Amino acid sequence: MMRKKYVFMVIALISILSCDPGKEPTEISSPNGQLTVSFNLNSDGQPYYRVQHDNKLVIDSSYLGFEFTDAPALGSNLKLIQATKKSFDETWQMPWGEQLDVVNRYEELAVELEEQNTSNRKVRVVFRVYDDGLGFRYEFPEQEGWQTALIAEEQTQFKLTEDYKTFWIPGDWDIYEHLYNTTAFSEIDALAKRNHPNLAQTYIPNNAVNTPVTMVGKNGLHLSFHEAALVDYSDMTLGIDADNLRMTSILVGSENREHKVECELPFHTPWRTIQITENAPGLIESNLIVNLNEPNKIGDVSWFKPMKYTGVLWEMHLGKSSWDYGMEQVNGNWTDTGKAHGRHGATTENVKRFIDFSAANNIGGVLVEGWNTGWERWIGFPDREGVFDFLTPYPDYDINEVTRYAREKGVEIIMHHETSAATETYTKQMDSAYGLMQYYGMHAVKSGYVGKILPDGEYHHGQYMVDHYNMAVEKAAKYQVAVNAHEPIKATGLRRTYPNAVSREGLRGQEFNAWSIEKGNPSEHLPIVAFTRMLAGPIDFTPGIFNIKFDEYRGDSQVNTTLAQQLALYVVIYSPVQMAADLVEHYEANPEPLQFIRDVGVDWQQSKVLNGEVGDYVTIARQERDTGNWFLGAITDENERELKIDLDFLDENVSYTARIYRDGDNAHWDDNPLDLVIEEIKLNSSSELTLKLAAGGGVAISMIKD
Ligand code: NOJ
Ligand code: CA
Repeated sequence: MMRKKYVFMVIALISILSCDPGKEPTEISSPNGQLTVSFNLNSDGQPYYRVQHDNKLVIDSSYLGFEFTDAPALGSNLKLIQATKKSFDETWQMPWGEQLDVVNRYEELAVELEEQNTSNRKVRVVFRVYDDGLGFRYEFPEQEGWQTALIAEEQTQFKLTEDYKTFWIPGDWDIYEHLYNTTAFSEIDALAKRNHPNLAQTYIPNNAVNTPVTMVGKNGLHLSFHEAALVDYSDMTLGIDADNLRMTSILVGSENREHKVECELPFHTPWRTIQITENAPGLIESNLIVNLNEPNKIGDVSWFKPMKYTGVLWEMHLGKSSWDYGMEQVNGNWTDTGKAHGRHGATTENVKRFIDFSAANNIGGVLVEGWNTGWERWIGFPDREGVFDFLTPYPDYDINEVTRYAREKGVEIIMHHETSAATETYTKQMDSAYGLMQYYGMHAVKSGYVGKILPDGEYHHGQYMVDHYNMAVEKAAKYQVAVNAHEPIKATGLRRTYPNAVSREGLRGQEFNAWSIEKGNPSEHLPIVAFTRMLAGPIDFTPGIFNIKFDEYRGDSQVNTTLAQQLALYVVIYSPVQMAADLVEHYEANPEPLQFIRDVGVDWQQSKVLNGEVGDYVTIARQERDTGNWFLGAITDENERELKIDLDFLDENVSYTARIYRDGDNAHWDDNPLDLVIEEIKLNSSSELTLKLAAGGGVAISMIKD
């Protein structure tokens, strides 16, 4: 793989301004001048900020502060000691990503505040203003008499100036796998989303939303609220004050202690981010979240190669095979018989089928779920510690033979660690489990955290788990292992710092189409996800289901898209590990659409979002690294539509052979999902195309240089 040399260019200009309180507010504008953030203190010494876009107020006076369990609140009687401004401009390179070069250009304002009473505590607030949004964080410097901050709550406000159309999921402390809701901001009711029957864990204590939460204004302004660089802190949900059009941070807590976050000084919080763009595509093209993270800390990661993969997974979700080896119904009760029941999916023989299929179809990996002992006591068992074993295969899985065979065929086995959220067992075995992978030359693990967190009282999104997930990524890097976590903490751009954090779930994935009570994800799901969850980072959605209705397995469920849309997802939904999730036999029966999966890239030189509206449709074109070939995907919700696109992004003076995989004239996600037309034409940079998408449909195009 071609890797250009790291080009690193930094220009920084620093100026220090002394400020008297009471004077003009301290202001800073984005490099293009469109976005302005102003900071000020009111007469009680309470800090607040405002944001303007083109001189229009977008965030009105929003106050900042903290509550502690062992000390008075911090957020009043503050004095501005000093304000520092800085310009920054660099271009850094993604080792893998939606693009190679990333411009990181911002104006920074740092304000130093000190309490004007007996305690004299100090805090800095740092704002970074980009052309496509802003981030700010709190920095607590080392100071006398204050070693440990026991944070009861962070009080960061976001005061809106309009009752935005909002795309949201509830502020669940335990899972992000909810359907998106589309309502006016003032109509958000997260508490109505409690107790979802398909979730192995869920806890929604407040009327709050999780992030990214995306909003669309009447004049077309798009806002998305999230956070960047979530390290040693809790996930921030946003509490909804409908009457005042205001959101206030609510950190995820724990039942085991009063405080929500514990940090030793000096420390800083994650960045609180607001992406602000004039249209929906701008949100996807924004690099704000990764830019607010620190550069690569783990050095060379060339041992990880972006790849497509198949695997033993969908057959379990369809009920064709099982993860476990010996669970049987005995007198109506599920019992571990210790004997093979014959439905176990991860057998040497079955995995070899996937290896052969991957090798024959330009697919780099095979994921093997259910290979190790412990699946007899995972979901729903309270005593899950000490059950899963990440070193011991079931008797019908010959790990030596499988890895030998895979190597011979040029395919990599992807490891699977379902922890069942029994964190202590996983932590204890981490070194030996990653060591085993290194021994077999495996460079990627999919981890899973299904169920309520053990120890009891912790939540998936609290500080305890944030530390656990980050520790796993850091440790894995030492064994040259890349991590794709399911039931993860949300992505906050840490892939810049730890490029081995390659992908994650953290949304309702394809699996819900196999078994959820709502009969899958509605057609609007992914056109919302592209503008919400995907802003956070790569998604392991597991696309590519060809047998859309799978009546022979689960007659009452189905995928709610056309086949053409399943192909388009390889381009629209970004991930450097991209599954071809369906069964080998379903692909072998459909060689024509399979050709797109064989051809499509997974690592990109550049990406262009050609059009889109949140919740309706989106079209993305991506250029593959190394080959320079282009791939395009367009998807729509339950409405059919026509989209005109201009191919002026193609290289000039180059002719491309394009293969178009589109919905047939009678295609429809429910009535006729398999109606697919494949056409081959020549294209160049002056070509224009009209894409016709069926209800729940899509278009996928490969454009290969002649
Ligand atoms: C949930 C994951 O999202 C899914 O991909 C996996 O197959 C199961 N857990 C079992 O680990
Ligand atoms: Ca899941």
